[in-house]
Amino acid sequence: MSLNILVVGNGAREQAIKNACEKSPLCKSVKLISENTCQDILTSCPKPDLVIFGSEQPICDGFVDQFEHAGIKCIGVNKNFSRLESSKLFAKKFIVNNGIKCAKLLPIESNDFPQVLKFDGLCKGKGVKVLYNNDEKNAFARKFTGMRYFIEEYLDGEEISVMSYMYNGRLINFRPARDFKRLSAAKDAPNTGGMGAYSPVELTQEQQKKLDIYLKLLEKALLNAGADFNGFIYSGLIWTRNDWYVLEYNVRLGDPECQAILTNLKNDFLDILLNGTAPEYRDGVGGCLTIASEGYPDEPVKGDEITLPDEPDIDVYFAGIRVNDGKLYSNGGRVLSICTNAENPFPALKNYAEKIQMQHKYYRKDIDI
Ligand code: AMP
Ligand code: GLY
Repeated sequence: MSLNILVVGNGAREQAIKNACEKSPLCKSVKLISENTCQDILTSCPKPDLVIFGSEQPICDGFVDQFEHAGIKCIGVNKNFSRLESSKLFAKKFIVNNGIKCAKLLPIESNDFPQVLKFDGLCKGKGVKVLYNNDEKNAFARKFTGMRYFIEEYLDGEEISVMSYMYNGRLINFRPARDFKRLSAAKDAPNTGGMGAYSPVELTQEQQKKLDIYLKLLEKALLNAGADFNGFIYSGLIWTRNDWYVLEYNVRLGDPECQAILTNLKNDFLDILLNGTAPEYRDGVGGCLTIASEGYPDEPVKGDEITLPDEPDIDVYFAGIRVNDGKLYSNGGRVLSICTNAENPFPALKNYAEKIQMQHKYYRKDIDI
């Protein structure tokens, strides 16, 4: 088998997926395509042998179903199950109906603070907020006018991201990752798309045992509901009251968790996707640090020229980058993902980050394992 592959999306996560495919003997060629060219692929000739979906929007728009209908093999969740990400109310029902633990719903007018408001649609990671008083609540509730929302109890604890791959009716689980979602270490710092990640996360025996129970329950729930896709399910979990509670589902690999996991992976990623092989890992920890631009997430500065140091042990994936005349310029909030595998990857990553030349560079210096 030697496949011509397309990866949908053009962020750092998709670059990392492309890089993993390129290392595989199963791959003949691999190209990234932007989300809004999916329609063109349906009518293109020749058709790709395989499409791997990175970002959520085309999955939730039903392109996996449309491609498969056109005879193109896909790695991605179908439209029906994409509601686990695109509708938090659908996800809540799925969780509760299958005996999976999650935060309790509160009445909309509840005055029990802190509490969490969640909009019921795709909001690019900006549709959830922990609220501490009614002023914050009223202001945030107006953010996505016309979109339904609900309120749930606030859970306090340690968070992990667990990515699973549904392959021919069984779940293949990757080791847990930790994602640093906030812009800085401050408790009230804004949520971002992710400022860094590492994998694996060390768990206690009790946590591992409960995680295994949860993942079996998830597999059973997906199969009972008729899941018949080969695609990724991401569980955002929090350890509280002596168990794992689900905070969210996504129907894709996490960004930047994907970069951390692929950096740590030893065997062939495509072989896992196509043949259901179990993941194997390198010694040490896969780490990823996001290089963002000042002003992110609200109004990132764009247009800085960037010079990257040359260090073979660091993988650099482009996110918000524009290339002009062979030079790199910042062109978004999250600009680069830098990744490496080591006993502790963060000293080397921060050292590399320090040496990157970019006028409005911003990254979290506190991230560590
Ligand atoms: P979500 O998109 O639902 O994962 O929410 C984004 C982030 O908000 C999570 O990673 C948590 O840090 C926080 N969060 C969401 N739901 C809750 C909750 N019920 N209690 C505490 N924090 C939450
Ligand atoms: N890093 C969190 C996400 O990809 O949703």
